Amino acid sequence: MAEPAAPGAETTTPQPPPCVVEARGVGKTWPDGNVALHDITFRIEDLPGQGELITLVGPSGCGKSTLLNLIAGFDTHLPPTTGELLVFGEPVTGPGRDRGMIFQKYSSYPHLRVWQNIGFGLNLHRRQLGLSAADVREQAHAWAKRVHMDGSEQKYPHELSGGMQQRVAIARTLALRPRIILMDEPFSALDEPTRYEMQDLIVELWNEVEATVFFVTHSLAEAVYLGDRMWIFSPSPGTIAKQITDLPLPTEPAVVMQTRPAFEERVRAVGEVFMHLAHGGERSDG
Ligand SMILES: Nc1ncnc2c1ncn2[C@@H]1O[C@H](COP(=O)(O)OP(=O)(O)O)[C@@H](O)[C@H]1O
Ligand SMILES: [Mg+2]
Repeated sequence: MAEPAAPGAETTTPQPPPCVVEARGVGKTWPDGNVALHDITFRIEDLPGQGELITLVGPSGCGKSTLLNLIAGFDTHLPPTTGELLVFGEPVTGPGRDRGMIFQKYSSYPHLRVWQNIGFGLNLHRRQLGLSAADVREQAHAWAKRVHMDGSEQKYPHELSGGMQQRVAIARTLALRPRIILMDEPFSALDEPTRYEMQDLIVELWNEVEATVFFVTHSLAEAVYLGDRMWIFSPSPGTIAKQITDLPLPTEPAVVMQTRPAFEERVRAVGEVFMHLAHGGERSDG
């Protein structure tokens, strides 16, 4: 550990650490001329020992997935047409182990057991991570437990419910300890009770994982409940039309908190802003 500088000692101005993600005027126009994203500008600062969960909402087609895929570094989406997209201060040029993606469609390997699916990424990067096959097995089982899948480690994906399959996908991604997690409508295909359970799991895991999460959802209640900040996108072209930061903390289980009148009122108010922006956000000056 460095000694703290003595009072009056010469010090150079410390450089702030680079942002986890920074977008400076990012735009994406597809070859057919369709402008998916326009002038996306934001900074997600690197807060020591703490991650931020950013929820993204907006009408279909306003570029939410495009933004996540750009951050992920998929070559189907790179490069942005305009602006700069930086991850830890470096332009995104491809995927990396520092970023993990979780999709709506559960992406398990059908021929692998639960623990093998969870350990898939660890196994792939085993050498770089300095892990033995036994370490991978041990970590995979530990992650199965953390997503409450212990007892099902030997099952195959087809034996699991949708919610359980998504738990496996979450564990596989978190096992690699990414600093950035991109979740694109991860719970949209699940029934409501399962969705609440998954939201509780996210809250439980995020208190310890310390990653920055970009979470796209169509559910305003989910966005208000999980988000530290929330971005409402507006369409044509897609852009961040509003950022909301004073969201309630998820201090109670999802089903309890989200049925409280004060929470419902908050979601209703956000819904009004959402509807206004979804319809072009014209100002009524009257
Ligand atoms: N690979 C692609 N090639 C061409 N156009 C695309 C591609 N992916 C998405 N788009 C278009 O970009 C726009 C934004 O899409 P998307 O990011 O998927 O929106 P959202 O996730 O908000 O529903 C849409 O008009 C969509 O048709
Ligand atoms: Mg999408």
